Amino acid sequence: MGNNIVLETRDLTKKYDGTTVVDRLNLHVAENEVFGLLGPNGAGKTTTILMLLGLTEPASGSARVFGFDSTREPLKVKRLTGYLPERLGFYENLTARENLRFIAWLNNMNDEEAERQIDHVLEEVGLVEKADTAVRKFSRGMKQRLGIADVLVKKPRLVILDEPTAGLDPEGINQTLDLIAGLPKMDTTVVMCSHRLYEVQRICHSIAILAKGKLVVEGALDELGRDALAGGRYRIEVETAEASPQLVGVIGQISGVRNVEAEGNFLHVITDSDLRAAISKAVVNSGVALIQMKVREFSLDDIYKKYFQEG
Ligand SMILES: Nc1ncnc2c1ncn2[C@@H]1O[C@H](COP(=O)(O)OP(=O)(O)O)[C@@H](O)[C@H]1O
Ligand SMILES: [Mg+2]
Repeated sequence: MGNNIVLETRDLTKKYDGTTVVDRLNLHVAENEVFGLLGPNGAGKTTTILMLLGLTEPASGSARVFGFDSTREPLKVKRLTGYLPERLGFYENLTARENLRFIAWLNNMNDEEAERQIDHVLEEVGLVEKADTAVRKFSRGMKQRLGIADVLVKKPRLVILDEPTAGLDPEGINQTLDLIAGLPKMDTTVVMCSHRLYEVQRICHSIAILAKGKLVVEGALDELGRDALAGGRYRIEVETAEASPQLVGVIGQISGVRNVEAEGNFLHVITDSDLRAAISKAVVNSGVALIQMKVREFSLDDIYKKYFQEG
């Protein structure tokens, strides 16, 4: 994975009828990574993609893809970028190969190069045997894979996939995700959007979570648990013989404690690190019996659920 940023947005904003649907979005996608744009339906994912491609204009802010401004130089962006829209369109009476030829033609590829590349992408998406079958006979999953082949024909350096697994059964989802996960090996950067956490967790290197048009979390998947968590990383449950307001105050003073709430004889403590030792000392020093303590690390699941419910 390179550290070159190939896609960047600065305060990217979109309004429909005065309502802000994408709100000052700042995204950074590195070369040859799989980047997941995650968010519940209506979060603004598709609108963001359309702005990245120059298909709709931002109200303010900007997007750059390979250094080209998406609004001012959309053709340069499109030349380097393959786009899989939410709803696929094929010529149903044409075969898979014929559909791909049409795309190659649209992209001004010469015949020889096109044939070679078509064979290659059919292989890549596992449709060699169905190459000469009319698309109307394809399953949903096969169409989705043909859609990805379609996007890859012109050898894009970036592919943007809008809900690439929508409508697929679990096996189709797995095959599609495996296919997407392999794209960086072919020197292709991937931006995919999804409303399913497990999908982006499975194949993405970095993710951004979008809720109501706002970026709530962005970063490398393996670092997200640590940083970006609003309100601390750990939740420590402390059961005491008596959770007095004084005890709440004392624990609240411990460095690294973000929040303390008492509920009956339980204290819910949100912290930046595992502070069980310091908390137990504070409880005992206050002359209160400590019954038990449990620590739980926030997962991405927790964060996403939180925003999902709010969204
Ligand atoms: N062409 C449009 N005109 C008006 N509102 C739109 C249009 N497209 C999307 N929206 C609204 O913008 C918000 C974001 O939509 P969208 O980007 O499609 O979200 P997502 O792809 O995350 O489900 C939604 O509230 C949606 O209703
Ligand atoms: Mg969408």
